Amino acid sequence: MGTGRNSGATPAIDSGQDRRTVVSWLLGGGVAASLASFFYPVLRFVNPPSISEASVNEVDAGKVQDLKPNSGKIVKFGNKPALLVRINDTEWKAFSAVCTHLNCTVQYRESRHDIWCACHNGTYDLNGRVQSGPPPRPLEELVVQIRGDEVVISRRA
Ligand code: FES
Repeated sequence: MGTGRNSGATPAIDSGQDRRTVVSWLLGGGVAASLASFFYPVLRFVNPPSISEASVNEVDAGKVQDLKPNSGKIVKFGNKPALLVRINDTEWKAFSAVCTHLNCTVQYRESRHDIWCACHNGTYDLNGRVQSGPPPRPLEELVVQIRGDEVVISRRA
C-alpha cells in the first residue's frame, strides 16, 4: 500500500513540476512575445528594410473624390513627404513637400492659394517657385496623373 502511495505521489510531484515547467515556459513565451512586439517596430525604425524607399518613383495618392478643389494633402512618397494640391476640378499639382531651406514639411494654404513653410514663413507659388522667405530653391515638382478615379504621383522622367 505504502509503495502504492509513494508510487502515486511521485508522479503527482512530477506532474506538478511539469505543470510549473509548462506554465513558466508559457509565461516565458509571453514575455518574449511582449518584448518582441515592443522591439520589432523599434528595430524596423532603426534598421529599415534593405529596399530603399527613396527609390520609389510612383505612388497611389488616393481617390479623386477624396480631395476637394482648392485643397492639398501630404502623401508619403518613398521615405519623403509629397504635397498633392487639387487646384480646381481638373487641375492638380504635386511637389516634394520638403522645404528647400531646412527640410521642414510645407503645406498648401487654401486661403492664399500658395504653398507655405511654417518653420520660417517661406512661401512658394503653385509652380513650386519661391515667392518669399528663406528657401533658396524651388520645390521639386512631381507629375500627377489621374487614372480612372485614382490619383497617381510620379517623378519626372
Ligand atoms: S525650413 Fe522652410 S522656410 Fe525654413
